[in-house]
Amino acid sequence: MEKTFIMVKPDGVQRGLIGEIVSRFEKKGYQLVSAKLMAVSKELAEQHYAEHKERPFFGELVDFITSSPVFAMVWEGTNVIATARQMMGKTNPTEALPGTIRGDYGVSVGMNIIHGSDSPESAEREIALWFGDEELLSYEKTV
Ligand code: CMP
Repeated sequence: MEKTFIMVKPDGVQRGLIGEIVSRFEKKGYQLVSAKLMAVSKELAEQHYAEHKERPFFGELVDFITSSPVFAMVWEGTNVIATARQMMGKTNPTEALPGTIRGDYGVSVGMNIIHGSDSPESAEREIALWFGDEELLSYEKTV
């Protein structure tokens, strides 16, 4: 079953949106595989955003994500990678449609509440970067 990495960024955590975001993924029918509230080291932030290393906003990105805790998650389900991106909305919240997470709660492209893997390759890389194998839980619905 497909898995993706989803992170509530510092602005989402501080604005009390963890529950709302988890709820949207639960109600959609996806299964939570792992989750943790954590401080992000500079090393982890730089590795996570390595593809943006040459962008002018790279320093800003790393500073922001290390400034305050994030809520890192792995979600599992059919087409979860692409569908999570649709649920999140466009990267720039001013372009994200109402009804999407960024459209409803985002403020700016830097403070856009949430990150989600953009491809199967990114999902595999990001899950391995943020979680150990032993943290990824597999369970059947019995209720
Ligand atoms: P995210 O999905 O976490 O992946 C890369 C992030 O870079 C993106 O969300 C935005 O928050 C951020 N980003 C993209 N463009 C800009 C920009 N022009 N200025 C600042 N941050 C940006």
